[in-house]
Amino acid sequence: MQLTQAILPVAGLGTRFLPWTKAVPKELLPLGNEPIIAHIVDECMDAGITDICFVISKGKESIPQYFYDNPALEAELERRGKRHLLETLQRYNDVRFHTVYQEEQLGDGHAILQAKDWVKSDAVAVLFGDDLFAEDEPGLVQLRKAHERIKGAGAVIALENIPRELTYKYGIAEVSDEDTGAPGLRRIKNMVEKPDPKDAPSTLGIVGRYIIPRSTFDVLPDVTSGHGGEIRLIDALIAQIQDGVPVYGCTCAGKRIDTGTPEGYKAALKVFG
Ligand code: UTP
Repeated sequence: MQLTQAILPVAGLGTRFLPWTKAVPKELLPLGNEPIIAHIVDECMDAGITDICFVISKGKESIPQYFYDNPALEAELERRGKRHLLETLQRYNDVRFHTVYQEEQLGDGHAILQAKDWVKSDAVAVLFGDDLFAEDEPGLVQLRKAHERIKGAGAVIALENIPRELTYKYGIAEVSDEDTGAPGLRRIKNMVEKPDPKDAPSTLGIVGRYIIPRSTFDVLPDVTSGHGGEIRLIDALIAQIQDGVPVYGCTCAGKRIDTGTPEGYKAALKVFG
């Protein structure tokens, strides 16, 4: 089974980047010659993704606009003989982009649920806009290989070994010792959202890359957590583990950078800028 579809939820308010985010979505902040979100689209393309669905909120239309064709602009560049610029614009020609809205920010799982009708394949990649991987082999390529190894049955989640004192910021996975034949690939027994360091079952934190089966979309509407009716992806996957669906964690090689905070963004500028 080939992985061809990816959901990129980018509907968040980006409060940590206020007041910038009143006018510019944080996903469009520059990192080198491209905005942050283009690095994620590049990662998708490296992994063979051909269909990308952005989940946006009102006012964030400039994110998909960056990737959509602009025939009038292309015709004008052609007329002016600016072929090199045309080539830059045409680099996304082989990808089909789609956009759906999340009307209210009711959690990451709720964001993904908005793309339910768009998902046609048995499995879909989910990439959150804040996490970038600085590594020769992109995070999603590593995850796709892990997914192929488990023959496409179930879910694969990217994990990172984090300092114990930071467990309260991450979903934490409890993994089994069972040999999967691949270093860094472990079956997940359970997950806990943002536990206290003393209660955390491990230091394996969930970072923003997933490959989920289509069946997760049937579970998502039933999992609302205590926080104002939020729907969280981790709760749907915990429910699926309890139902016997195989969920694996893959510790991806390479340095991960969280661009979702001003400090993380500064660190990313040093690596990608
Ligand atoms: P964050 O928790 O970083 O939230 O979401 P945020 O709104 O982007 O930023 P802050 O916390 O206000 O500064 C992680 C990812 O999940 C998406 C966000 O766009 C971001 O890519 N998300 C989160 C949604 O698309 N919808 C939601 O309801 C929540």
